[in-house]
Amino acid sequence: MQKTRLFRLPLLFAASLIIPTTYATDASSSGQPYYEWKVENFEIKEPLGGLEGNAVRGKAIAGNQSRGNCLACHLLPIPEEPFFGNLGPPLTGIGSRQSTGMIRLHVVDQSRFNPETVMPGYYRTPAQLNRVAKALKGKTWLNAQEIEDVVAYLTSLK
Ligand code: HEC
Repeated sequence: MQKTRLFRLPLLFAASLIIPTTYATDASSSGQPYYEWKVENFEIKEPLGGLEGNAVRGKAIAGNQSRGNCLACHLLPIPEEPFFGNLGPPLTGIGSRQSTGMIRLHVVDQSRFNPETVMPGYYRTPAQLNRVAKALKGKTWLNAQEIEDVVAYLTSLK
């Protein structure tokens, strides 16, 4: 299992070199199409696009200032990144407090829980966003694979 995943990395890299040609018409920042999602009882039960998340990649995205940047507002168990903000609650142990589907909705669109939230909607329906910078128009903050990676990471925090 682990082996096949590692094997996919060079393929992903190769794909990322080809993908920029389709960039402009795609909804997300990395050439992935935008996948519709459905909320039931404050959960998105189905993984976006049926994609499988990877917790190791998710941790890197959560801690990366130019990607998820979750540490700007949340404490996470990432000791190598000692600085974090506290606008949001600590996410340590979130995987034992909430279902994967609920965690997914938090990351996709926190405004479904709190319309006034300061937390970015990382996979909000692009059509619903208005007054965004031109470069971001029609795109999501993270792509579907990145969302699933972050969800896998948070789910693993027991
Ligand atoms: C600008 C600040 C900010 C950033 C950046 C941010 N969040 Fe949040 N987040 C919040 C706040 C504030 C809340 C508390 C609820 C509310 O006010 O919406 C929250 C709530 C949550 C919750 C629900 C926690 C609970 O105990 O119910 C999860 C899960 C979450 N955030 C995950 C993330 C992840 C993952 C990222 C990065 C991809 C992230 N957040 C980035 C501010 C932020």
